[in-house]
Amino acid sequence: MAKARATADQTASGGARAPIAVLVVHGPNLNLLGEREPEIYGRTRLTDINKQLKQLGRELEMKVETFQSNSEGTIVDRIQKARGRCDVLILNPGAYTHTSVAIRDAIQAVAIPVIEVHLSNVYRREPFRHHSTISDVAHGRIMGFGAESYSLALRAARTIALESRRRSA
Ligand code: DQA
Repeated sequence: MAKARATADQTASGGARAPIAVLVVHGPNLNLLGEREPEIYGRTRLTDINKQLKQLGRELEMKVETFQSNSEGTIVDRIQKARGRCDVLILNPGAYTHTSVAIRDAIQAVAIPVIEVHLSNVYRREPFRHHSTISDVAHGRIMGFGAESYSLALRAARTIALESRRRSA
């Protein structure tokens, strides 16, 4: 019994009863959301997406942290920093989705379940966007719902984290 509790307490965010911790990472050019090709990405700004995610996080009793960078190495650094500190990573790697082996390697190195998110449905777009270097190492992918892709991902993150806590309890 004591042993089972000890195992359950060894969750990423500090214990079975600690709030589920989610890191949301936005890749290059997503800082321009709202202004950038609004016919593809919508009119919601990144600051509003982040605010909505934090609000939804409060409602679902989850801790949500957000991060954006235009640089591949900085994204790798942020993913590495999340190791052992977050339950689920929600990641929109932007254009790095289609090219980055470094981000893929970082995901595998930290062993945190990843939900790959895209605002647009990449399969309705240019063929070079159809390939993702990370989709086969991600837990799942959500795309094509604009800003709502992120809130759908946050709800899915809760399910994944609860399931993983249940398994290790
Ligand atoms: C994107 C799709 C990518 O192909 C593109 O390079 C982006 C945004 C999306 O959210 O739809 O920057 O990841």
